[in-house]
Amino acid sequence: MRITLVQGDITRQDVDAVVNAANSSLLGGGGVDGAIHRRGGPAILADCRRLRASKYGRGLPTGEAVATTAGELPARWVVHTVGPVFSASQDRSELLASCYRESLRVADELGAVSVAFPAVSAGIYGWPLDDAARIAVGTVRAASTQVEDVRFVLFGQEAYDAFERAL
Ligand code: AR6
Repeated sequence: MRITLVQGDITRQDVDAVVNAANSSLLGGGGVDGAIHRRGGPAILADCRRLRASKYGRGLPTGEAVATTAGELPARWVVHTVGPVFSASQDRSELLASCYRESLRVADELGAVSVAFPAVSAGIYGWPLDDAARIAVGTVRAASTQVEDVRFVLFGQEAYDAFERAL
């Protein structure tokens, strides 16, 4: 597997699957989630609503992942995952690691060979960047997957630097 770091906007990535840092409602939000729904158009939300009406009536649990169409994005699929909100008093690292593992598992089911990840939980969910980067890189490296090209797409210099240190 090749791991690359890119500074930029995840919605512009020409990969098979783009991972969304969603929330369990699957119905949109800010950050990466807002950007993906805005640029991908209404087809993504329509798929999300179908998932809420079927398998995920109570929402997508933290640490799990599920795929939808990518609508008008260059990617073929969006893999939605729900990161844990950072807590200083409780170690939720395993849930964050699970987001990466489960997203790669779903990518394997889809037959996706290239996958772009954002820094899950490192924005609105408050995770310290270095810790989030260490968990992301360590988990992806250790994963057993058919995915050949993993791209971490970082929004700013600070996030990029944290992932570079972790790598
Ligand atoms: N491309 C790449 N990275 C981005 C982009 C983008 N277009 N936009 C933001 N980032 P966040 P979370 C970075 O907040 O912490 C939503 O409301 C951002 O700078 O998107 O998992 C959901 O619905 C940060 O480094 O995700 C949930 O409610 C990283 O992506 C909640 O936010 C993740 O930030 C999830 O929070």
